[in-house]
Amino acid sequence: MRLLSGVQPSGKLHLGNYFGAMKQHIENQEQHECFIFIANYHALTTIQDAQRLRTLTCDVAMDYLALGLDPAKAILFRQSDVPEVTELAWILSTVTGKGLLDRAVSYKDKVDKGLPASMGLFSYPVLQAADILIYRSDAVPVGKDQKQHIEMAADMAGYFHNTYKCEVFVLPKPMFNEAAVVPGLDGEKMSKSYGNTIDLFEEPSAAKKKIMSLKTDSTPVTDPKDPDKCSVFALLKLFATAEETAEWSQRYRAGGMGYGDAKKRLAELYEAKFGPARETRKKLAEDARYVEDVLAEGGRRARTVAQQVMDDVRKACGIVVRK
Ligand code: ADP
Ligand code: TRP
Repeated sequence: MRLLSGVQPSGKLHLGNYFGAMKQHIENQEQHECFIFIANYHALTTIQDAQRLRTLTCDVAMDYLALGLDPAKAILFRQSDVPEVTELAWILSTVTGKGLLDRAVSYKDKVDKGLPASMGLFSYPVLQAADILIYRSDAVPVGKDQKQHIEMAADMAGYFHNTYKCEVFVLPKPMFNEAAVVPGLDGEKMSKSYGNTIDLFEEPSAAKKKIMSLKTDSTPVTDPKDPDKCSVFALLKLFATAEETAEWSQRYRAGGMGYGDAKKRLAELYEAKFGPARETRKKLAEDARYVEDVLAEGGRRARTVAQQVMDDVRKACGIVVRK
């Protein structure tokens, strides 16, 4: 099965990004053909500073490599190294009714949060559909908030097929993992835009400080507590083994345990999981050449696939491009 997913280089990656999306991207490289890309064209909807976009793009590549993405198994590339994707986005926009995009909830959310209501932001799902369809991806591993965008990509493939009486695309399916929504420091969804994140490569003292500040209720230490209402437990569950999670659940319910104990354990588990990756990342940061080589090679491989699909697309709709 061919899987494809993208992450925008729009800021530091956090536990929500990792457990909601990146973790399954990395795990899937063992069984599936994986295309993972850095969505730098999409990021132009929020980052409009050239140097910052270049840096953030490189950062995401280093993050993936440090966390275990293996360029010998998965194709890691920059969206812009396959510029055909913007051509496909245009073609898809000509067979897609504006009504479909009017129903996109993420556009409304982003505008409500204060992002400029640009045409790019409005047609963001069309470019995302092009990303998915141009590689004939079977499934798209993403967080639940992306479900509508994946469904729209399948819709757009259908509009193209109906219009041109052909079948050039594979209809993609979204693929979710168990960590639906990772809570942040304030108990709301962890998100860059809420300033409530625990990032992936925090130094141990900074991470511990944040973890100790996680918001909890004021149930006294001696009283029983409901683990399912506690964000410390929700985070612990993501790191701990099933046995340890069950133990913590019992300790919560039995009473006599303070939230501080669970937080301390969470800080230890965070360090055990991300400490080694942080060190690997520091080494990668000194080897910009290697990171660039990985992206260049990934881009070449991805582009070869995209160009074949674009030949079929252009043929279907009568667009001639001199080679
Ligand atoms: P942010 O909200 O920080 O801007 P993005 O919207 O860039 O994050 O999300 C990138 C990916 O990470 C998406 O696939 C999204 O579903 C996933 N993701 C982000 N935050 C969370 C979260 N708190 N819980 C689960 N998944 C998340
Ligand atoms: N919209 C996705 C996000 O915000 C990023 C993205 C762009 C993407 N193109 C994609 C995800 C294609 C999956 C497939 O997280």
